[in-house]
Amino acid sequence: NRAPQTVTVTGAAGNIGYALLFRIAAGQMLGEDTPVRLRLLEVPAALKAAEGTAMELADCAFGLLDSVDVTDDPAQAFDGTHHALLVGARPRTAGMERGDLLQANGGIFGPQGRAINEHADDAVRVVVVGNPANTNALIAQQHAPDVPASRFTALTRLDHNRAVALLAAKAGVTVEDVDGVTIWGNHSATQFPDLTHARVRVDSEWKPALEVVDSAWTDDEFIPRVAQRGAEIISVRGASSAASAASATIDHMRDWALGTGAGADGSARRTSAAIVSDGSYGVPEGLISSFPATSDGGEWKIVPDLAPDEAALPGAGERLAATVAELESERDAVKELGLV
Ligand code: NAI
Repeated sequence: NRAPQTVTVTGAAGNIGYALLFRIAAGQMLGEDTPVRLRLLEVPAALKAAEGTAMELADCAFGLLDSVDVTDDPAQAFDGTHHALLVGARPRTAGMERGDLLQANGGIFGPQGRAINEHADDAVRVVVVGNPANTNALIAQQHAPDVPASRFTALTRLDHNRAVALLAAKAGVTVEDVDGVTIWGNHSATQFPDLTHARVRVDSEWKPALEVVDSAWTDDEFIPRVAQRGAEIISVRGASSAASAASATIDHMRDWALGTGAGADGSARRTSAAIVSDGSYGVPEGLISSFPATSDGGEWKIVPDLAPDEAALPGAGERLAATVAELESERDAVKELGLV
């Protein structure tokens, strides 16, 4: 076995937390050769519920589970942590303006960023799941000046997985027969799920996705359905996505830490992750935006030469520009509020 890794989960008593912790403890995130120490961070009112989850984790007798600590103190929760999964956030409630929402989340992600800066392991990896995820990640990052900016990411893997599943269903193939989907921009309704460089394997032959499904279906059904899938789940299930969000969080961290590996034909398998922009694709440097990405087990890397293909899907470039503009306006709003 490798040395134990410390994993901190915030919002541990929430719905996603409950779907996430048992899979991490079972080795599905860091591999079945890596023991884990879990740190559960909650607000005081939810500490008892988190203790209950810790009791159930013990009752699973997971061979890889080294320890579980429950706390409401960020300094303790992030002490020496290698993997920080920031799930707990302040949800938007009726009548809440965007400024109020950003302010409330600034009060969570600012202090957590500072605690990560002061206490986490030097090689910490952070993924923000709590919404608005990209901007919460930016706030945390800006409070952690000693941690490389690239170590702060946000989750768009759920959107990516939703897009892969929807395309596979439409094409009548399995998800293994779909490759090269990209989610661009913000984890919000403006995101751009892009099929212009995607491929689908039909009868053992890889074809451009937009030759298998048409651009009208892409525009009228695929893009809005992926972007609105969270709302669709709420209306059908009566509660927001939890197990699928947890599964995507595990995919994101596992791919980052262990590598994305090779795809169906041996080329690098790419996915989507919200990572700090280096200015690629016209996304202003420093924004945490979703890109086509690979990891060799070290850092996420933005895959070049995949600009949305305007000829394959008219309006593709505008869709990318619109979601990036939304990220810029969120960044400007948190700057004005003094949160970054
Ligand atoms: P939930 O309401 O069931 O759980 C959230 C938990 O966070 C609660 O137990 C709460 O006490 C805790 N919490 C709040 N402030 C905290 C703080 N300062 N420190 C530690 N814990 C804190 O919510 P659920 O369903 O688990 O969702 C969590 C977040 O994930 C939400 O913001 C939701 O919008 C977001 N989400 C993001 C997705 C993505 O793809 N990026 C997908 C689905 C949900």
